[in-house]
Amino acid sequence: MNKIKKILIFGASSKIAQETAKNFNQEGTQLYLAGSNLQKLEIVRDDLKVRSPKATFYLEQINALEFDKHNQLIENAKTKMDGLDCVLIAHGTLPENDEIRKDHIKTLHHFNINCTSVISLSTIAATNFEKQGYGTLAVISSVAGERGRQSNYIYGSAKGGVSLFLQGLRNRLINSNVNILTIKPGPTDTPMTTNMKKGLLFAKADAVGKSIHSAILNGKDVLYTPWFWRYIMAIIKAVPESIFKKMSM
Ligand SMILES: NC(=O)c1ccc[n+]([C@@H]2O[C@H](COP(=O)([O-])OP(=O)(O)OC[C@H]3O[C@@H](n4cnc5c(N)ncnc54)[C@H](OP(=O)(O)O)[C@@H]3O)[C@@H](O)[C@H]2O)c1
Repeated sequence: MNKIKKILIFGASSKIAQETAKNFNQEGTQLYLAGSNLQKLEIVRDDLKVRSPKATFYLEQINALEFDKHNQLIENAKTKMDGLDCVLIAHGTLPENDEIRKDHIKTLHHFNINCTSVISLSTIAATNFEKQGYGTLAVISSVAGERGRQSNYIYGSAKGGVSLFLQGLRNRLINSNVNILTIKPGPTDTPMTTNMKKGLLFAKADAVGKSIHSAILNGKDVLYTPWFWRYIMAIIKAVPESIFKKMSM
């Protein structure tokens, strides 16, 4: 089991990230919470403090699109915590596909948040871990990245890019002591999905957070959460394109 005590969470105000962070509550845990809104980070920190009085917290305000600050963020986290065991990347946006699909600027904006910025942060984190000889990079992708669908292909293609990038990174780092975890949640009840109708397949964020925490400790490669999404996606991916393209999904 991986020993994880010094954790940087990017997008720490995300509901899934918060629910994951609640599980890192052993004595000596240090959490470096990064995100675009300082007030939200302070609220998250105050809540986590109540649950994990023995943990130490650091905050840093940074927008995912500030690419020139990514390197410094990792350096700051390493310096403040005197090391880094794990980076969890959790930020994201779920745009209304129909509203932005004809607007290339908005499309690229969301693609950059959901994919390019994640690739940038992942590259820096993985390079650091490779150099120090250990570490875990955990990134929240999505089951939406497994097949392009008319209702969410802008978000889905960004997540698909992230998943494929991480697969290659994992393959490259096979002989290092660095673990790359790709997290693929199904629909989960969080602020991101406020406007969506909640069906039977909707997961609770606390359960998703628990499964992410356990996958990080156990050095997993890919986590479908809840687990049954692995099988649902296997079926969806098996549908021939000639049929799939006619389906309204
Ligand atoms: N909920 C689901 O159904 C679901 C399913 C599969 C995957 N996911 C993925 O899970 C992750 C967490 O999402 P969530 O469901 O927990 O949603 P959430 O609570 O709405 O969190 C989204 C987070 O992304 C941050 N963010 C957005 N744009 C940013 C930017 N430019 N720079 C920095 N941070 C930014 C937000 O911070 P601010 O509020 O400060 O902007 C917020 O903390 C995301 O990657 C999402 O794509 C979610």
